[in-house]
Amino acid sequence: MAGKKVIITGVPGVGKTSVINESMTRLEAEGVPYQNINFGTFMFEVAQREGMVKDRDEMRKLDKNAQKRLQQLASQAIAKIEGNVIIDTHASVKTPAGFLAGLPEWVLRELKPDIIILVETDEDQILKRRLSDATRVRDIEGARAIADHQNFNRAVAAAYATITGCTIKYITNADFLIDRAVEEMMQTLR
Ligand code: AP5
Repeated sequence: MAGKKVIITGVPGVGKTSVINESMTRLEAEGVPYQNINFGTFMFEVAQREGMVKDRDEMRKLDKNAQKRLQQLASQAIAKIEGNVIIDTHASVKTPAGFLAGLPEWVLRELKPDIIILVETDEDQILKRRLSDATRVRDIEGARAIADHQNFNRAVAAAYATITGCTIKYITNADFLIDRAVEEMMQTLR
């Protein structure tokens, strides 16, 4: 079964995982099942096994070539999964050396996405969510830097669409309006 491959991205703290989880639960009840694959978890399993990092937030600080190798291994493993698949990942990753493309050409060639979704919201809301999430080691940066990252993600997503022919969908996950984001995501995934 070929299935649909949907890549879902968003800057850390935008709430993409929350929107994905709720959408999947409701779609399952409608008889439209998706597997949810977290790209970072595939990378982390290798990085942890090889003693490169202790937590997932350390990965974006690794040497660029090490991150690229982990990306490649993750994309090869994920490409083998059949059926309707959501791939929860990043359009770009902010590293100490600058933005690293989350979906470079060799990753896209493996994953062959039908759609790439960008979950977004206002930068001040993202900043507030990061500050209140004690479970993660989030980068602390200002609202302007977060806005720059979201802008870069739109630019790089345009390049991904050009390479693959996939469509790009923006979904807003605003404060108190997560249901609206879930509804829009469900429509896109159906
Ligand atoms: P990943 O696991 O994707 O980490 P992340 O970016 O921190 O993503 P999260 O899933 O934790 O953030 P989220 O925004 O989805 O937040 P959540 O739903 O929890 O990636 C880990 C690492 O893997 C990366 O740093 C990178 O190193 C690596 N990686 C992954 N893909 C890669 C790739 N392609 N290439 C290279 N490296 C890669 O929500 C956050 C908070 O907001 C919660 O408290 C939630 O309750 C709240 N919230 C959500 N929605 C709302 C709302 N509408 N209103 C109010 N609050 C809300």
